[in-house]
Amino acid sequence: MRLDVITIFPEYLEPLNVSLVGKARSRGVLDVRVHDLREWTHDRHHTVDDTPYGGGPGMVMKPEPWGEALDTVIDSGSPGERPVVIVPTPSGRPFTQELAIHLAARPWLVFTPARYEGIDRRVVEEYARDHEVLEVSIGDYVLAGGEAPVLVMTEAVARLLPGVLGNAESHRDDSFAPGGMAGLLEGPVYTKPPEWRGHGIPEVLLSGHHGRIARWRRDQALRRTARHRPDLIAGRDPAEFDAHDLRV
Ligand code: ADE
Repeated sequence: MRLDVITIFPEYLEPLNVSLVGKARSRGVLDVRVHDLREWTHDRHHTVDDTPYGGGPGMVMKPEPWGEALDTVIDSGSPGERPVVIVPTPSGRPFTQELAIHLAARPWLVFTPARYEGIDRRVVEEYARDHEVLEVSIGDYVLAGGEAPVLVMTEAVARLLPGVLGNAESHRDDSFAPGGMAGLLEGPVYTKPPEWRGHGIPEVLLSGHHGRIARWRRDQALRRTARHRPDLIAGRDPAEFDAHDLRV
């Protein structure tokens, strides 16, 4: 997968060199290219923002540098190859595991993290004419810019790429995964030692009884989901729950 990021803070993306994403890059699974938006400015001050039409506080990112940057990046691909353009913004659609799965199946993503009050709207309109352009929010809070959301989305997508996680099954049971725990939050996990500071571990996990362990894990997942994310249970088909689930 190829991934381009256009930003005025290229150094903010340095974490893409470490850990899981860094390893995916060195294995050749991910080709990450970070570009400095100011390379596509032509004035002495490398201006990327201006005051908003209609007034109001803050500054808006000018369309011209983004247009030149996106044209250059898009034209560097093979003829006819079109990336998905992802615009991080608190006013976008929510970033979910489902969207991460959709993006992991695409060969090329271009991220346009903005600062200030965002990018002049015409940039989205322009590229949406012949690209899939997704405005995406990573949560209901406002950050100072889209770079941290790019790190979040990149990690969520990269770990789904074949050959990135050691154990291909380890995202089957992820919280929110469509298979496995079927959209429930994951319950607690334990490792050795069997006793730590007076805390033991649930007996069932020592039983070696796979059926009972699976049932216990599902119960824990149901309890945790009911407590932290009741919305995830309320939106489900009641037929998905068995009699035992309903007692939990
Ligand atoms: N930029 C600022 N806040 C953001 C958020 N919550 N998600 C995506 N991009 C953002």
